[in-house]
Amino acid sequence: MEGNSSGEPAADQLMTTTSRHQFGDDPDEPAVAISVIENMKEEYGLFVWPCSIVLAEYVWQQRLRFSGATVVELGAGTSLPGLVAAKVGAHVTLTDDANKLEVLDNMRRVCHLNKLHCNILGLTWGVWDASIFTLCPRIILGADVLYDNDAFDDLFATVTFLLQNSPGSVFITTYHNRRVP
Ligand SMILES: C[S@@+](CC[C@H](N)C(=O)[O-])C[C@H]1O[C@@H](n2cnc3c(N)ncnc32)[C@H](O)[C@@H]1O
Repeated sequence: MEGNSSGEPAADQLMTTTSRHQFGDDPDEPAVAISVIENMKEEYGLFVWPCSIVLAEYVWQQRLRFSGATVVELGAGTSLPGLVAAKVGAHVTLTDDANKLEVLDNMRRVCHLNKLHCNILGLTWGVWDASIFTLCPRIILGADVLYDNDAFDDLFATVTFLLQNSPGSVFITTYHNRRVP
């Protein structure tokens, strides 16, 4: 670990942890284990949100459906569902806001850490860069992407485009209801 001039670890490094996520029935011998680098700073895409754990477990339970499928994860952040999909044999493109370079860099590190080959793409909802036209996913994943009302229109525009660009495709999302009753 690198330190600052006083030999102390930099504050950024102190906030970085690696979490381990296991899938399969036997906790002592998990069928699949994924390590995720997280950083507890104010960046939503550097943290494993509960929705991501739920969606990753769904991918694991449905692994036969995912094996060999082309998968795009939107707002992937730390990317746990997409990484599980890659582990079970899907061809995965992990995407997040094209302006969030730190999040996209972290995705590359996490893929490397887990020895997985995923495409990493900056894809901002509602923005039509050339790269989106090349995507023809069978399955579109999005964990906790419905958290900001102001972004709904852009998210749904992107999801609609991908669904229309790839007939027969589906969008699978997990949603966290944060409304206080
Ligand atoms: C609540 S986090 C969920 C992250 C991850 N899916 C999870 O569940 O752990 C929302 C994610 O959406 C991404 N995001 C927010 N606005 C976006 C936009 N306009 N275009 C693309 N991604 C966006 C954020 O960068 C972040 O990674």
